Amino acid sequence: MSRFGSDGEDIIGKWSEDKLDLLAKYLQSYSWIMNREKEKWLKGYYYIDAFAGSVRPRAKGEDDEQRYIEGSPLRALRTEPKFGGYWFIDVSSKRIERIQRLKEDFPDCNIEVYQGNCNEILGDQLIPKFNSSSKRAFIFLDPYGLSIDWETIKKLANTKKCDIFVNFSIMGVTRILPKDKKPNPEHIELLNRIMGNTDWIEEVYKPQSSIQLNLFYDQNEETSSLKRGPINAEWLANLYTEQLRAIFEYVSQPVLIKNSTNSVLYALCLASHNKTAVKITNQIFKRYEKLK
Ligand SMILES: C[S@@+](CC[C@H](N)C(=O)[O-])C[C@H]1O[C@@H](n2cnc3c(N)ncnc32)[C@H](O)[C@@H]1O
Repeated sequence: MSRFGSDGEDIIGKWSEDKLDLLAKYLQSYSWIMNREKEKWLKGYYYIDAFAGSVRPRAKGEDDEQRYIEGSPLRALRTEPKFGGYWFIDVSSKRIERIQRLKEDFPDCNIEVYQGNCNEILGDQLIPKFNSSSKRAFIFLDPYGLSIDWETIKKLANTKKCDIFVNFSIMGVTRILPKDKKPNPEHIELLNRIMGNTDWIEEVYKPQSSIQLNLFYDQNEETSSLKRGPINAEWLANLYTEQLRAIFEYVSQPVLIKNSTNSVLYALCLASHNKTAVKITNQIFKRYEKLK
């Protein structure tokens, strides 16, 4: 089955619906708490969707069933109380057209739409708005693969005003780690850009000695090559959350999002400067794990 429907919408599995339900649950608590703070010191709070997507993705079905799901922008727009603003980013012009239409569907919501690479838009236009203000933002980072730069995460952390809900692509990382040799320099650079650190690669690859027959000289020659065993998804997720812990005060336990064959695709987690935010997320994640 294709990843996209005939209108270019995403076709998503049950696991992506789970992710959206977890997002909606957290948004509700976040908005309720922040709204109370507005009566005291808070000037406003905003929802930023850095990978806004196709708005109404289609559920992957066994037959020709057509069921549409509310994507992350709709989950945010339906959250009560309302956010002070909704800033949606996507790189694709087709998706931007769909996102623009939300302004007609939600005339009471303050929606701004940005087309382009979210690392640039966040860094150049949106993050600076929070540097010296009594405003807060919740940022959903939900890429297909390895598209969120660690530098962007650091800039968000440095504001001390942004909570991030990250869907970290475990599959995206394991896919570029060959089994029988170290990743090539471009992939190491990509991992460094995404994770901010690649020291862990040394731990993953172990030398494996093997005796090879050198026919030319008719003698045995010892060669050593680097190999890796299976990557434990939980270990990789914890590696990423440890990195987050160095720049955010509080980070939730990651929840592993698995597909129908039980392979881990993503690790979802919240990073914040607020203890309660992480406590609430851990409770939501625990309930989800229990129900699975
Ligand atoms: C997984 S989908 C998002 C799904 C959406 N969050 C939802 O739950 O309904 C990823 C989206 O990111 C967009 N995208 C890919 N790379 C991007 C980038 N560097 N900056 C902004 N958007 C990007 C794609 O066009 C796609 O719509």
